[in-house]
Amino acid sequence: MMRVSASFLNSKNPPLDLEKLNDTDVDFIHVDIMDGKFVKNKTMPFREMKNIYKYTDKRLDVHLMVRNPEKYIPLYAELNTEYITFHVELEDKIEENLELIKKYGIKSGLAISPNTPVKELVPYLPLLDIILVMSVEPGMGGQEFIDDTMDRLAELRVLLKEYNSHAIINVDGGVNRMTRSRCDYSDMVVAGSYIINGDNFQERIDSLR
Ligand code: DX5
Ligand code: ZN
Repeated sequence: MMRVSASFLNSKNPPLDLEKLNDTDVDFIHVDIMDGKFVKNKTMPFREMKNIYKYTDKRLDVHLMVRNPEKYIPLYAELNTEYITFHVELEDKIEENLELIKKYGIKSGLAISPNTPVKELVPYLPLLDIILVMSVEPGMGGQEFIDDTMDRLAELRVLLKEYNSHAIINVDGGVNRMTRSRCDYSDMVVAGSYIINGDNFQERIDSLR
């Protein structure tokens, strides 16, 4: 069964939507963090963000769209966090930051943007628990799923057979009832607006399983 991680980036009322998600069987809450440098948009600071997680008992899947992951990892490691991912495009200090995440006993991952060749992940694959394949340009919710994502997932699946059979694949951006069929090579999908804009969250989650 496909695992589902719910993003509330586009939510107009995060406390309420997180409480509603608590009553579903969603596997994780996907936490999008933007610093206004790696991407143009900026999410609220940690001192505000941390209060939001009082509304959920679900484990968190943290997606850092930031230029300096080492500043954010110690903060988000304090919460009920299962995964922390940051971007392979940073090129710098990747091994150190993966180590830092592991030091907190948290599963570590790399995210990859749509225009970055999948093979850039190869040197790091043995070090990863999760790979977050972006199916939209990082920076905002509610965008359209990019078509060639399915080929990228297939390519990554082959690479994982060779380099790391325990890591899981997660897809992020534009996932809905229609685009879900292009995510079969993945183990997990992130869905934001598709779930949040529905009247019945559980029904929307079921349609992604
Ligand atoms: C995009 C974010 C995604 C996004 C998902 O930068 O990383 O997590 O919020 O939202 P939807 O499902 O609306 O594309
Ligand atoms: Zn995300």
